[in-house]
Amino acid sequence: MKPRVLVVDDDEQNRALLSEKLLLDGYDVEKATNGLEALAKVSSFLPDLVLLDVMMPVMDGYEALRRLKSDEATRYIPVIILTGRTEIDDKVHGLEAGAEDYINKPYSLTEVSARVKSLLSMRALQTRLRETEKMAALGEMVDGIAHEVRNPLTAIGGMARRLFEGETSPQHKLYAKNIIRSVERLERMLLRIDEYKSILTTTLSRGNLNDVIEAAVKDIREFIEGREREVTIRTNLMQRPPAINMDYGNLKIAIFNILQNSVEAIEKNGEISIESFPAMDQAIVVKIVDNGCGIGNEDIRKIFNPFQTSKIEGAGLGLTICYRIIQDHGGEIEVESEKGKGTTVTLRFHPAR
Ligand SMILES: Nc1ncnc2c1ncn2[C@@H]1O[C@H](COP(=O)(O)OP(=O)(O)OP(=O)(O)O)[C@@H](O)[C@H]1O
Ligand SMILES: [Mg+2]
Repeated sequence: MKPRVLVVDDDEQNRALLSEKLLLDGYDVEKATNGLEALAKVSSFLPDLVLLDVMMPVMDGYEALRRLKSDEATRYIPVIILTGRTEIDDKVHGLEAGAEDYINKPYSLTEVSARVKSLLSMRALQTRLRETEKMAALGEMVDGIAHEVRNPLTAIGGMARRLFEGETSPQHKLYAKNIIRSVERLERMLLRIDEYKSILTTTLSRGNLNDVIEAAVKDIREFIEGREREVTIRTNLMQRPPAINMDYGNLKIAIFNILQNSVEAIEKNGEISIESFPAMDQAIVVKIVDNGCGIGNEDIRKIFNPFQTSKIEGAGLGLTICYRIIQDHGGEIEVESEKGKGTTVTLRFHPAR
């Protein structure tokens, strides 16, 4: 996904020049004409960085900055203040209010572009670090809970199944069925937690991507059987792809999880296509496209987070697992989706040397 930059300036020409340059640099750009509008755009556009003019009508840059930095949800978005004022006091004022950087007008677009690039890469590193720490702490806690839950859950499930089989009252049978269903949901959660733990060790060796894809497709066909869905799967794989360094088992889990999401996104009947082809930079691209329910803009940013799920029976760990596996392969994963239309997951792998 392209990084998003919000340009806030009351001067139309400045806005146009800045956004043109940033678009050329490959960012998604939105514009606002004053502080108040900027705050509204921050909530809807969710920028990765804000370029903020100071002297503006309605609400000036300092006030907008103060509000951004006092809200937990927007505090970590880096802000670069743009201003015509040059006095030291004003710079200090901006930095004290929490701006990450400060650029004086008149500025060169090349300078703005360089500072945006550097702040964005710093933010990406910080985000990754925060996530790694969060994951490690979370991992330990989840592991502990899973351990404690396993035995009582087996007992509850076992008893409920016996009740279900021995009961004659339809009402009581229904109660037992509901307990069993809830137990199954928790069992899926535990299974995913085990899966997550198991993929943390990776052993890479040279292998053929087509073999893994074909094995995952075979498994997904079995998964589809017995479900009331008509799903057509089409594959169009690049012939004799260059070898990549892979952990066969883990990579199969990753691709299976992506396909499983596609199947689950298809309510009655639909189509999944898997194709692979070489990219300009020698990478091998694998595209998995479905015409399922799609994902809304708000949700798509969170889908790799653990326990993020929209499904009653979901654990919300499938894509967290995928992300980790693809990272361990030195690859990349990207998800694009349109609600009601479908989803495309793109994977990129680099050939083994
Ligand atoms: N192909 C897809 N189409 C529509 N929504 C999707 C797709 N892939 C992922 N999602 C959304 O992303 C969420 C997270 O996916 P993820 O695989 O991590 O968890 P899950 O499928 O809910 O549970 P599980 O851990 O059992 O896989 C899903 O709940 C779903 O809302
Ligand atoms: Mg899933």
